[in-house]
Amino acid sequence: MAEFTLPKNSKVGKGKTVKAAEGAKRTKVFNIYRYDPEKPDNPTVDSFEVDLDQFPPMVLDALIHIKGKVDSTLTFRRSCREGICGSCAMNIDGTNTLACTKPIEDVAGEVNIYPLPHMPVIKDLVPDLTHFYAQYESVQPWLQTSSSAPAGKERLQSPEDRAKLDGLYECILCACCSTSCPSYWWNGDRFLGPAALLHAYRWIVDSRDEATGERLDNLEDPFRLYRCHTIMNCAKTCPKGLNPSKAIAETKKLMVERQG
Ligand code: SF4
Ligand code: F3S
Ligand code: FES
Repeated sequence: MAEFTLPKNSKVGKGKTVKAAEGAKRTKVFNIYRYDPEKPDNPTVDSFEVDLDQFPPMVLDALIHIKGKVDSTLTFRRSCREGICGSCAMNIDGTNTLACTKPIEDVAGEVNIYPLPHMPVIKDLVPDLTHFYAQYESVQPWLQTSSSAPAGKERLQSPEDRAKLDGLYECILCACCSTSCPSYWWNGDRFLGPAALLHAYRWIVDSRDEATGERLDNLEDPFRLYRCHTIMNCAKTCPKGLNPSKAIAETKKLMVERQG
């Protein structure tokens, strides 16, 4: 698999150029990274000029239009078109974001689209997220208890304790944050990255969870947690407006507190 790195790496060649149909009044050019593991002559960037009056206003709509009407081999992930599933994450105009919630009109000039940076590419705009998901799994993102549940009742939580999960539970695991983090680019094999760490903290602060000590032990490592150097790209890029860097800082604070 090809390793994709931003900015446009010198190995990416110029691909084909497709013009909009004659008579199109509102046109825009989409420059899209193409990689096909079965072809020797790539990666390339293909340019598609399209008529904006032919489809709705988001970048994902343009990709769906190009795939449906111009080049059916164009490959990308998408599901919900509502900013909920996280599958359409990609690098648009230099920023990791969700194609389905990114208005085309927010991009001045041509729209450059690449897969999420520093990830192995499976095809075109589809990164291989196997390692990213394995890291998520490694924080054991589920409720863990040793006590028995109250008879006939759910494990309850006060409104104040529930509020501590706000800003955490909304994460859709799109990977925009982790793939924008330089520490993750260089040490992604051992540093968990902001997405997995945000989820680790989500369970650490859950008042119903009884594995807090083990969860902190699991992060007590020079790489897994402490490779975050507060660079803050994660918070800047999160399309859901979350702040993984804050969750990481809170986790580091808990590490210090339990030593004292
Ligand atoms: Fe995506 Fe934001 Fe979750 Fe990171 S914190 S995976 S950017 S939703
Ligand atoms: Fe990376 Fe965010 Fe820390 S960008 S270094 S995880 S604050
Ligand atoms: Fe689901 Fe974009 S298609 S988040």
